[in-house]
Amino acid sequence: MDEAVEPRRGTLPPHFRKLDFSERRNALAEAFSLTPDELKITAPDADTAELADVLVENAIGCFSVPVGIVPRYVIDGTDRTIPLATEEPSVVAAASFAAGIISRAGGATTWADAPVMTAQIVVENAAAHAEDAVARNATEIERILEPILGGMTRRGGGFRGVEVARLPETGLVCVHVHIDVRDAMGANILNTAAERLRAPIESLTGGSILMAILTNVSDRRLAGAEIRLPVLRLGRAGRSGHEMARRIVLANRFADENNARAVTHNKGIMNGVTAIALATANDTRALEAAVHAYAARDARYRVLTEYQVVGDELVGSVRLPIALATVGGATGFHPAAGLALKLLGNPDAPQLSRIAAAVGLAQNFAALSALVGEGIQGGHMRLHAERVAWKAGARGKNIRIVAERLAAAGTIEHKAAVRELRFVIDSESQ
Ligand code: MEV
Repeated sequence: MDEAVEPRRGTLPPHFRKLDFSERRNALAEAFSLTPDELKITAPDADTAELADVLVENAIGCFSVPVGIVPRYVIDGTDRTIPLATEEPSVVAAASFAAGIISRAGGATTWADAPVMTAQIVVENAAAHAEDAVARNATEIERILEPILGGMTRRGGGFRGVEVARLPETGLVCVHVHIDVRDAMGANILNTAAERLRAPIESLTGGSILMAILTNVSDRRLAGAEIRLPVLRLGRAGRSGHEMARRIVLANRFADENNARAVTHNKGIMNGVTAIALATANDTRALEAAVHAYAARDARYRVLTEYQVVGDELVGSVRLPIALATVGGATGFHPAAGLALKLLGNPDAPQLSRIAAAVGLAQNFAALSALVGEGIQGGHMRLHAERVAWKAGARGKNIRIVAERLAAAGTIEHKAAVRELRFVIDSESQ
């Protein structure tokens, strides 16, 4: 039989992308001999299937990620309910634990820059006067962009200036156009603006455009949070509050000095920030790329937090680029994002960035106090035991019962979980 007509097992038909949603699922099931149960794993309801189909190409289903709530986190005097979408056990628990401590001490205070993003227009073979010509014509560039930025300008955003530089190695001329994108992430409007400027920039510089696209760097869109915690309340794992505060400050300094630790430290901050981004259907890759570039801005990868003891308080702060949208893109489209924004009190983009900064800081404080306190594994192992129990077939209240038995026995393994589950079920039926 002709292989092009009859695909081999594990190979999808050549016309796969032309199939509709359910035909694609059937083709997948056939090519990979999927059982109905396997196929059910990615099965959305009819509405969500339509949504998946318009959100991505070749959609075959949905992948669900748990959403957990950090309840009652006081941020800038407001009690917030914060949805986090994450697959990692302990992220919601850690943030909730820290949010409780921070809120009892008065809450986090936050700030955010105006949401200014940047488009890059890159020119090769530019004339000697190119940088000057662009800089002198900033007003003309603003005028050219008016039809694109009109709505944004009326909402208080819009054009925020031009910068131009010639790069020393390639000799390329790089034009940066800054735009306040208000509540949007800005990718569409920036790319449209960058494309619109191709011809005008070519004629100003006498060169030809290599590319025109936004940069995700977002270093004009920083956000931050601060917490002030009475040292006396930080005692943990047999250590006094003073000792815990000293150790947290030292742990932060260690991470700032040591690249290997700084990566994990910042990853912990992003556990919270990315989880808010995902819950609101924001672009998590853009966010993470910008954050790690910012952490490396001093030509060495550094931490995003600072801690010091001031009087009888531990003062912690975080500062990082957080480009999050509350309108447009998948955020304005995905019903789960709409729900998350409603729970968050329908913030505007800078407010959402501020909440995310506060959650990132809470996450970091929780991690550091566990690390320099009793260690991180205790809490993690309990959650790990629950996953092992689930995998062994435990459901409902049995998940916790089996997990507790596994943790008490000190053997968190599949075989032991199957044994414990059988024991629990047998005891129930007696
Ligand atoms: C785990 O996802 C995050 C931590 O490793 C962060 C940290 O070490 O600071 C606990």
